[in-house]
Amino acid sequence: MSGPNTNYDPVEVSALDPENIAAAVEQAHAAIAAAATLDDLKSVRIAHQGEKSPLALANREIGALPPSAKAEAGKRVGQARGMVGAALAARQAELEAERDERILVEERVDVTLPVVRRPFGARHPIELVSQRLVDAFVGMGWEVAEGPELESEWLNFDALNLGPDHPARQMQDTFFLDPVDSGLVLRTHTSPVQIRTMLRQEPPIYIVAPGKVYRTDDLDATHTPVFHQIECLAVDKGLTMAHLRGAIDAFVKIMFGEGTRTRVRASYFPFTEPSMETDFVCFACHGTGSDDAGAQCRSCGGSGWIELGGSGMVNRKVLRACGIDPDVYSGFAFGLGIERALMLRHGVRGMHEMVEGDVRFSRQFGMEV
Ligand code: DAH
Repeated sequence: MSGPNTNYDPVEVSALDPENIAAAVEQAHAAIAAAATLDDLKSVRIAHQGEKSPLALANREIGALPPSAKAEAGKRVGQARGMVGAALAARQAELEAERDERILVEERVDVTLPVVRRPFGARHPIELVSQRLVDAFVGMGWEVAEGPELESEWLNFDALNLGPDHPARQMQDTFFLDPVDSGLVLRTHTSPVQIRTMLRQEPPIYIVAPGKVYRTDDLDATHTPVFHQIECLAVDKGLTMAHLRGAIDAFVKIMFGEGTRTRVRASYFPFTEPSMETDFVCFACHGTGSDDAGAQCRSCGGSGWIELGGSGMVNRKVLRACGIDPDVYSGFAFGLGIERALMLRHGVRGMHEMVEGDVRFSRQFGMEV
């Protein structure tokens, strides 16, 4: 870099020569005027205003001038750079305005053109309510468990204390798989997920298992050969029927709202002992059995209660079959059908509406995701 030099004659520094400065300005002006696009202007700016432009180089030479010459040369270069800067800014504004105008024309949207409407789908209410129940149980620390819909007969029946000759085995109208000795069925309930879990996991166990189940029923207003259940199983030390009732109450509150009362009736399932059937108070008549006009409540048929599903304390035999010591651990379980509860809750007229998959039906339940 050149340093001050008192013997330096400014006339000899040709870059600072007034003519050369004027020529540099002129060249810059010509290039600026010739720039047809913003990109062109960018290159022009680098060439005529950048670090290596003639005026920038000239500016650098000022430092080498004797103090007496510095002011004049500085003024000359400063004015020249100011002119180039102003010309660049003016051209920039011009080109931007041109560009904006062009964009407005090119990207014009005709809002009157017809559009292809693609309506959103909707999640099926069965899926929505299952998810809400599962989420609530997960929120209480339970885990989600799954099992296959094509299930071994042993897990679907035998391990649940439903031996080959057990009369209750006939209660569930089963789809068997060909050949019959394949030992496979379409699961008739979600209860085999209980066995799968207990075989795999040591207590404490708290699981919720939603899923599809199959029975050989024809589709009519109240039946469908494929439907959904939600199964809950808890195995821990010291669990009692009080815990079972608490869990069922939590479940019913999520499904039907705060303040929904439940009651249990003695029942029979081979895999629970004792076994119970759970009812919840009718959400329409709140247990009175009649509607506002005094007529018989149509939701519960006048009984004031609606059946929800089976439950009980896990049979000691089932615990033992899964390698869990029934003298140390106890468990409770319940399995509830989703379709019927949903139909009652929303006044769905028939099972057909639930299974046909018409998006207009699902959309009525909201677009929750
Ligand atoms: N699996 C039974 C059914 O589909 C319902 C059931 C009853 C499930 C009692 C349970 C239970 O977990 O403890 O009919």
